[in-house]
Amino acid sequence: MASFVIEGGRKLEGEIKIQGSKNGSLPLLSASLLAEGKTLLYGCPDLSDVRAALNILTYLGCETAFDKGVAVIDCSNAKRSNIPDDMMQEMRSSVVFLGALLGRFGRAEISAPGGCEIGLRPIDLHLDAMKALGAQVVESGGRIVFTCPDGLKGARISLSFPSVGTTENILLAACTAKGETVIINAAREPEITELAEFLNDCGANIKGAGESVITVNGVERLNAVEHTVYPDRIAAVTYMAAAAVTRGNILLHGMNHELPMPVLENFEKAGCNLAADGDRIYIKAPKQLGRIPLIRTMPYPGFPTDSQADFAVMAAISVGTGIIVENIFENRFKYIAELIKMGACARTEGRVAVIEGVKELNSANVMSPDLRGGSALVVAGLCAKGKTTVENIEHIDRGYENFENQLKVLGAKITRRD
Ligand code: UD1
Repeated sequence: MASFVIEGGRKLEGEIKIQGSKNGSLPLLSASLLAEGKTLLYGCPDLSDVRAALNILTYLGCETAFDKGVAVIDCSNAKRSNIPDDMMQEMRSSVVFLGALLGRFGRAEISAPGGCEIGLRPIDLHLDAMKALGAQVVESGGRIVFTCPDGLKGARISLSFPSVGTTENILLAACTAKGETVIINAAREPEITELAEFLNDCGANIKGAGESVITVNGVERLNAVEHTVYPDRIAAVTYMAAAAVTRGNILLHGMNHELPMPVLENFEKAGCNLAADGDRIYIKAPKQLGRIPLIRTMPYPGFPTDSQADFAVMAAISVGTGIIVENIFENRFKYIAELIKMGACARTEGRVAVIEGVKELNSANVMSPDLRGGSALVVAGLCAKGKTTVENIEHIDRGYENFENQLKVLGAKITRRD
């Protein structure tokens, strides 16, 4: 079990380039299964989740290479349509291979991903959507087998919740299905827009991505293309929060300033000065963070659930009381117990966290409970008095490329212990 040791209290200052998006690159890697030829993904972040996705592709029979942020995937010889249990467990998002496997082979075999650290995360919406597109589903002994005896056929699918993963799987399965698919109440996250843009470049016919209704007209085949992965809007917010709690000022580049839009206003309300333009975002923190406005996590363009923990840390040392309502995942406040060990005055009631600002946080030995909760604890360690140890950082490695080095560039004192 690896850990970070952080000597807090140093102002973060300087400039860093934002990594490519984790949540964006995973469906793109899956989509490469559908494309004939060599797919090149530039700016692919070097993360354990990305490596897990590449391992799955290799297992399926694809040729893969990954060097200096460029992933090269050639799926000409892909022959397997099953993902073994251990690979499914390695990365919960491996369910995003489902739509591509069905599109490519008309068959898929995966395991039920089961619960995980932030909630139950069922896959009923994925299953129902694949059934609507013509898949027959048989579940036995934890394995789920999908077959399409009559091929995939376009359908009208109305989602009871705008699930990101389900919308991605529908796009992947529908783009080479016969006829028209209409997704109603589709997820609108930038990762959906990016996947649709990528698939359209490959020859797909998708209209309306980024809106609530998406129409896909099936095409015969897709051809591989080169694509640069969008910047990671969630990682960007974590670095901005790190600047905010250390009274620092940092410049992020390689960013698209519009991506974290739902969050930017909240930094300003807390007293931070922002300047955002093109691929840059600059943030300058006040001497004392003002009250964090009420945060309700929502599907995009609402406040992202992946960024709520960063704002909880800001609330912990702000003036007044911050309230966070988590509407997406039922178990996303585990980090609060660790934050309390650092002197935060916080409590949770079901899906609500109430955090009263204190003058400062103190150091402690804390455990990263999940990816975003873990990175937020590092942010807390950066502003806490003394030496904080964040354990179990394998979670953080799933989503932040070169995390400690990026923070060091900004002046943090942080070391990794394996
Ligand atoms: C993706 C992101 C994750 C982000 C989340 C919400 C990736 C790799 N992960 O996760 O970082 O926090 O979107 O923005 O892109 N649900 C069901 N049944 C289903 C599917 C989902 O009940 O079949 C529920 C989930 O339990 C959750 C909600 O719907 O409560 C949203 O999940 P979803 O949008 O699917 O999130 P993911 O795609 O798993």
